[in-house]
Amino acid sequence: MKDVLKAIEERSSTRGYSDVKLTEEELNTIIKAGLQAPTAANRQEIYFSVVDGDNPLLKEIHEEMLKGRPNGGQSFYYGAPTLFILSGPEDFYWSAVDAGIAVENMSLAAEGLGLGSVILGCIKDAMTGEKKAAFNEALKIPEGCVYLVALAVGHKAMEKTPHEFSEEKNVFRI
Ligand SMILES: Cc1cc2nc3c(=O)[nH]c(=O)nc-3n(C[C@H](O)[C@H](O)[C@H](O)COP(=O)(O)O)c2cc1C
Repeated sequence: MKDVLKAIEERSSTRGYSDVKLTEEELNTIIKAGLQAPTAANRQEIYFSVVDGDNPLLKEIHEEMLKGRPNGGQSFYYGAPTLFILSGPEDFYWSAVDAGIAVENMSLAAEGLGLGSVILGCIKDAMTGEKKAAFNEALKIPEGCVYLVALAVGHKAMEKTPHEFSEEKNVFRI
């Protein structure tokens, strides 16, 4: 298991996965990392739908996504064996922030376990469009809640170096 700074340093979006499924232990560790994330006012209203990569529902979501993005041909979750779909209250000011924190906790947990992951926003329009009610029901998303973000996780079938960054451009020491 990597320590947290090493996981932050080495995490990079994985866009290619082997067929190897996650073990129950790996799944539980990643779910727990999401549940342990801080939430505004400790509301803990981020929900996690855990979907097997083979679930036909993902094909339906993909087809819905393609209606708005005719060029987005390949699997939106890059064939990962597991997809975590995070949802939360539509009318809560901090839902998106809470989901962002939870999804990064999960991504770092995956990295710590030696797994790859990629955060996915690309299905937002599909998840909140015409088929919202049907997708929400299939994913057990609670009443009043909406899709916020997703995380694909699996064994890496590709390596990519972490993104470059510039302290000079992005940091202001006041
Ligand atoms: C909110 C959010 C949404 C993202 N949506 C997608 C996506 O739909 N598809 C994808 O391939 N990557 C997606 N990414 C991954 C980013 O493209 C990636 O984090 C960025 O290019 C930096 O690369 P790195 O993660 O390898 O450091 C998303 C990342 C974030 C934070």
